Amino acid sequence: MEFSIKQGSPEKHVSSAKLRSGCVMVGVFDGGKLADSAQVLDTSAQHYISEIIARGDMTGKAASTLLLHNVPNVASERVLLLGLGKRAELDSRQYRDCMRAAMRALQATSAKDALLYLAELPVKGRDSAWCISQAVLAAYETAYRFDRLKSKPEKDKKVLRKIQFGLLTEKPSSALESALTQAVAIAQGMVLAKDLGNLPGNVCTPSYLAQQAITLAKTHKSIKTTVLEEKDMQKLGMGSLLSVTQGSAEPAKLITLEYHGADKKQKPVVLVGKGITFDSGGISLKPGAEMDEMKYDMCGAASVLGVMQAIAEMGLKLNVVGIIPSSDNMPSGTATKPGDIVTSMSGQTIEILNTDAEGRLVLCDALTYAAKFEPDTVIDIATLTGACVIALGHVASGLYSNQDKLAQELLAAGEQTQDRAWHMPLWEEYQSQLDSNFADMQNIGGRPAGSITAACFLSRYTKEYRWAHLDIAGTAWKSGKEKGATGRPVPLLAQYLINRVAGGK
Ligand code: BES
Ligand code: MN
Ligand code: ZN
Repeated sequence: MEFSIKQGSPEKHVSSAKLRSGCVMVGVFDGGKLADSAQVLDTSAQHYISEIIARGDMTGKAASTLLLHNVPNVASERVLLLGLGKRAELDSRQYRDCMRAAMRALQATSAKDALLYLAELPVKGRDSAWCISQAVLAAYETAYRFDRLKSKPEKDKKVLRKIQFGLLTEKPSSALESALTQAVAIAQGMVLAKDLGNLPGNVCTPSYLAQQAITLAKTHKSIKTTVLEEKDMQKLGMGSLLSVTQGSAEPAKLITLEYHGADKKQKPVVLVGKGITFDSGGISLKPGAEMDEMKYDMCGAASVLGVMQAIAEMGLKLNVVGIIPSSDNMPSGTATKPGDIVTSMSGQTIEILNTDAEGRLVLCDALTYAAKFEPDTVIDIATLTGACVIALGHVASGLYSNQDKLAQELLAAGEQTQDRAWHMPLWEEYQSQLDSNFADMQNIGGRPAGSITAACFLSRYTKEYRWAHLDIAGTAWKSGKEKGATGRPVPLLAQYLINRVAGGK
């Protein structure tokens, strides 16, 4: 899809054959009140639109749409009216719901291009740049399909190629243009993250993820990829990570992507993504129901790859390192057994009481390894605990940090992109749940506060640097009829990095 920003009134665009588009879209508020662009269009169409509204077929209810053909004095083949709901209630969430409906309706037409007057709407606390970003994300989200593994994929009906954002009053400033480029890069990063998440465990193995990272480095000169094998990890003393892969026939990989966008001396942000390509639970085998969804246990890794691609596309001026510890978690005669004690790269010993708490076991060694890059900040992203889904559902990711300011910055980036997180406590009082009689710690903290004790476990490996942890167990994919990866938290992370550059850090 191709996006651009154009200034000019809709009547000028729609009445000139040269600027004719397949579809022009304008908003209608609840009660039938026309948005400014709709007003202009209505005047040139001799009140054709207001007559339809008077008839009652478009009430302006949020996220409703009405497609019109052959509107008088409008050169566009179609006019799509979009209900925006009550003007006073048009907040970020309502705008996003409307954009999703708008893009769905638009993609259901056979218009090849469209002109959308949706950027200058009075959304509470948001500007046109924000509106354009959200519209772009909605366009990609509603267009996304994963059918590459069907033997006869449905004939590609996607005809929409070009979307123009029309501006009535504003000039297409560089701020708007860069919001547009960034949104496209984020949306494409989400597509990569979704594709990797949706691929099954027999395709998307640790080796497959490594190959993806190598491909990213081939397409982007600014990225350098290195892959460590099990023997390399052995030399580094990564006994914890290796204990997870021990039962699997697939070799584990430790994948590192280094993005250089700023002076070599600038300390990098390190992103660490959990890359369990299938989590059966190991000897502490999971129950059968919905176990297939544990192919999504590499969504943290997928989000790291998505963010790396996005920032390379943007040419963001900072340094970022992505680290992906990747393994299967399988039961077998060689698998780790409950009660086994391993030594992590940090030297700390771990009593593995449940082999299903494997995410923290691969992450702790990757987090120790991260220190080698002398990071300014380290953020890990992991589908870490079922307990986080119980706590926050599928709305917010769980956020933990050893520095409040970092937590605030991540929360703000999540608010900005509508990819929200919620700040969870990392208090000392929870640490004792990890006490072990035989090792420095055990890998589970019991049923109470399961997401928090998992974060506490990780905090024991991140004392040397500023760190945050995102538990995305509830947000990385959807179950049931809509089963599929969401591409979260690519928007949150990419926006955080964009904000860092804008803030001169
Ligand atoms: N990958 C799972 C977490 C998970 C479970 C994410 C369900 C999304 C949905 C993780 O490896 C795991 O199995 N965690 C255990 C930890 C427990 C054994 C302490 C869990 O949450 O049950
Ligand atoms: Mn598990
Ligand atoms: Zn897992």
